[in-house]
Amino acid sequence: MEPTIKSTPEPLLEIKNLKTYFFLERATVKAVNGVNLTLGRQSTLGVVGESGCGKSVTAHSIMRLIKEPPGKIVEGEMLLHQDDGTVVDLVKLNPRGRQIREIRGGEIAMIFQEPMTSLNPLHTIGDQIAEVVMLHQDVNKKQALERAEEMLQRVRIAAPAQRLHEFPHQLSGGMRQRVMIALALSCNPKILVADEPTTALDVTVQAQILELMQELQTDFDSSIMLITHNLGVVSQVADEIAVMYLGKVVEFADVHTLFHNPKHPYTEGLLKSVPVLGKKTKMLIPIEGMVPSATIDIRGCAFAERCPHRMQICDEQSPELRSIGSNGHLVACWLHE
Ligand SMILES: Nc1ncnc2c1ncn2[C@@H]1O[C@H](COP(=O)(O)OP(=O)(O)OP(=O)(O)O)[C@@H](O)[C@H]1O
Ligand SMILES: [Mg+2]
Repeated sequence: MEPTIKSTPEPLLEIKNLKTYFFLERATVKAVNGVNLTLGRQSTLGVVGESGCGKSVTAHSIMRLIKEPPGKIVEGEMLLHQDDGTVVDLVKLNPRGRQIREIRGGEIAMIFQEPMTSLNPLHTIGDQIAEVVMLHQDVNKKQALERAEEMLQRVRIAAPAQRLHEFPHQLSGGMRQRVMIALALSCNPKILVADEPTTALDVTVQAQILELMQELQTDFDSSIMLITHNLGVVSQVADEIAVMYLGKVVEFADVHTLFHNPKHPYTEGLLKSVPVLGKKTKMLIPIEGMVPSATIDIRGCAFAERCPHRMQICDEQSPELRSIGSNGHLVACWLHE
């Protein structure tokens, strides 16, 4: 089946040259070091890359949940295009201020990589969802609990009325993940940032959760930023994909282009190193070498030392993310300059 290539959607969140560093006693970790990406309206953006490349730190930066100190957003813009036409730069907001608290959980919601970080073990599921609903909507406790029950039903938790009164530890891992999705979606967010939402689950539950997220996206008209190291998962659900390497986006394209016409040697390496559903792979070949430390400054391209196409310029100057072709395909690589 030929996948349809959607025209580039209107931007909802534009991240420009975002840098988030952690100032530790002995070194500075440049976890996010110039990320550029755009999340379109009503679309799903997959963000992939090896462990430690800055996916979660990017997500936490969007939510303004980076703990300062030692963390800090040192540069960049995160432009949120709101429905009334105004544009808010999330970087400029006070991380403890009213505006970001309204946006967080309201316009932008997040599913965290560790389910238990967002669920409070001391409160019932119902109370936790109701609290979020009451924070963002003008409803009383009874109405908020009704909404909570409705959300549990949406994420297909059996006997939701009864589950409302249970505590997180009484649920299975898969159910907790569903509760997190219910919690995140309870205020109809425009953007759902889902950080490895299915990693801890077995494949069948994984598939159900992904299906559910897509269904909810259609129903609520929201956009999803799906962070995962699993290319198989993004190939099934994403419209566009951003490939990250050591704190930067090195390639950005629609799913079809990325899987069939990758331009960055790192993307090519990733595709050769993992099995991807529906794509014939002769043999899995791991990318040689390791991701360099985020504490050292690299003058040229961060991927150069692992790259099979390394040239002299690669060690001397860092390539910028540039447009190639006409369909929004971006790549940061000297081979394509
Ligand atoms: N609170 C922190 N203090 C210091 N360094 C941090 C902190 N949080 C993250 N880092 C560092 O920032 C870099 C990016 O981490 P991040 O969690 O964003 O990776 P990731 O891409 O989400 O990886 P994974 O796929 O394993 O979840 C790593 O080098 C990590 O060690
Ligand atoms: Mg992570």
